[in-house]
Amino acid sequence: MAKPVLWLPRKVSDATVERARRDYEVILNEADTPGTAEEIIAMSAKVDAMMPCHSEHFSAEVVARLDPRLKIVANHSVGVDHCDIPALKARGIVVTNTPDVLSDATAELAMLLMLGAARRAVEGDRLVRTGAWDSWSPAFMVGKQVTGARLGIIGMGRVGRAFAAKARGFEMEIHYYNRSRLAPELEQGATYHETIESVLNVADFLSLHCPATPETIDLMNAERLALLPDGAVLVNSARGALVDEDALRAAIGTGKLAAAGLDCFKVEPGGNPAFAAHENIFMLPHIGSATRSTRDAMGFRALDNLDAFFAGKTPRDSL
Ligand code: DGY
Repeated sequence: MAKPVLWLPRKVSDATVERARRDYEVILNEADTPGTAEEIIAMSAKVDAMMPCHSEHFSAEVVARLDPRLKIVANHSVGVDHCDIPALKARGIVVTNTPDVLSDATAELAMLLMLGAARRAVEGDRLVRTGAWDSWSPAFMVGKQVTGARLGIIGMGRVGRAFAAKARGFEMEIHYYNRSRLAPELEQGATYHETIESVLNVADFLSLHCPATPETIDLMNAERLALLPDGAVLVNSARGALVDEDALRAAIGTGKLAAAGLDCFKVEPGGNPAFAAHENIFMLPHIGSATRSTRDAMGFRALDNLDAFFAGKTPRDSL
């Protein structure tokens, strides 16, 4: 029987490509450029399956123009805000993602953002790198201590819980908001709050771990930022859509927030040029899951989903 044809629009790990080639006829975008709407539509007539990343957008308009040949979109990502899932499902196209396997890498990066923002990593690096470090005193480069501080987590899914586990190593007092309260074995002593606002009131550090949905767009707006204690630090390793960037910039500008650590932005790639003037905004280019082992695991999880589908089973991560 002919192998199903699979499109890999982005350069996934070598191990993923090697494994994919065993069971699929692989079409690889060697240029590794984001798949445009027209490319996705054109490719849908040539392939049975696609393994896109969050850089390929399956809007309702794109989905409406997909060729019936395409049967499954096996995302190489946990976030699926780049896909109109109801539209895909209405076309009978199966959609999957890659949960679990990137939780630790993303939580690790959130920890880096929190520490780097709190301890003024951007400013310190610049001083040393440019040769501008010419003095030292007890008042020099004083930051905010993480150990023992109060941490607010919005969204206690897999990544939020992995972040909480790492924060416990810093003896942080953990407060969280989630759509529903976790069972005690998952909560592990963290304090549940019934509203986001209630978490904000106590969060010296606030880390966002919820998906981007119509309900969470600009979740951190001016009103909510104002509820944080003075000198709080905001960390976002989830999605740029969650933060009103003008409001964040204003809160950084007035000193309401001591710092922010951001791995994602409203506009990607590129980020928000207005943030560059603020050395207390520690920024990274959406690399939360970018470790070698996690990239392999994401690719393999997407392939597991494809294999199940083509074996006539329901993929484990069907959405
Ligand atoms: C994800 O998997 O959602 C990460 O943001 C990388 O795409």
